[in-house]
Amino acid sequence: MPRALVVFAHPVPESLNAAAHRVAVETLAAKGWDVDDCDLYAEGFDPVLSTEERRNYHDTAINTGPVQTYVDRLRAAEAFILCFPVWNFGYPAILKGYFDRVMLPGVTFDLADGKLTPCLNNIRKIAAITSYGSTPLRAFLAGDPPKKLFKRSLWGTMRPEKMRYIAQYDMNNITQADCDAFLARVRSEMEAF
Ligand SMILES: Cc1cc2nc3c(=O)[nH]c(=O)nc-3n(C[C@H](O)[C@H](O)[C@H](O)COP(=O)(O)O)c2cc1C
Repeated sequence: MPRALVVFAHPVPESLNAAAHRVAVETLAAKGWDVDDCDLYAEGFDPVLSTEERRNYHDTAINTGPVQTYVDRLRAAEAFILCFPVWNFGYPAILKGYFDRVMLPGVTFDLADGKLTPCLNNIRKIAAITSYGSTPLRAFLAGDPPKKLFKRSLWGTMRPEKMRYIAQYDMNNITQADCDAFLARVRSEMEAF
């Protein structure tokens, strides 16, 4: 059974992101994925890269030590799904810290003679499920950093065959029907994933 790692970053169970996360996990499981549901808040993930971790960052013999279980989970996955709200046009701090601490040299990329080579070759599919307070235009005018982080930086790291960016914009003005439509979209995207 192929494994899907779902990394979820929202502290509030009654949020739209939490609802989208539940829909994604349930739908993937129903479609036959072995879902590894990584709820960063519930797991108490510490997002702070420590002094020692920074000193050892490039030492691939020991750099994974403090986050070995998270590295193992990443290496076991064929699909990687992020579920997060856009905060300050980026990832919430707990998710940013996941990238800082887990996506290490020797895990997602090799660094030799100053040249980066992607090395996390097990991920075939990636998806982001996210929401913005901004309208699409306002996000575009701001450069939409989370979309670029996902579609350019993460794509470059994982080189997946399939990539989906599933976003709900304008959260400050949408209706319950819009929320329901977004959750239906999450369901159909995960069914087809
Ligand atoms: C700390 C914080 C920072 C935010 N920064 C942005 C932002 O930079 N751009 C944006 O479009 N929305 C921003 N928002 C709005 C969130 O994206 C919005 O609250 C969220 O998508 C709503 O989904 P939820 O109900 O799942 O929390 C911010 C919200 C919070 C709490």
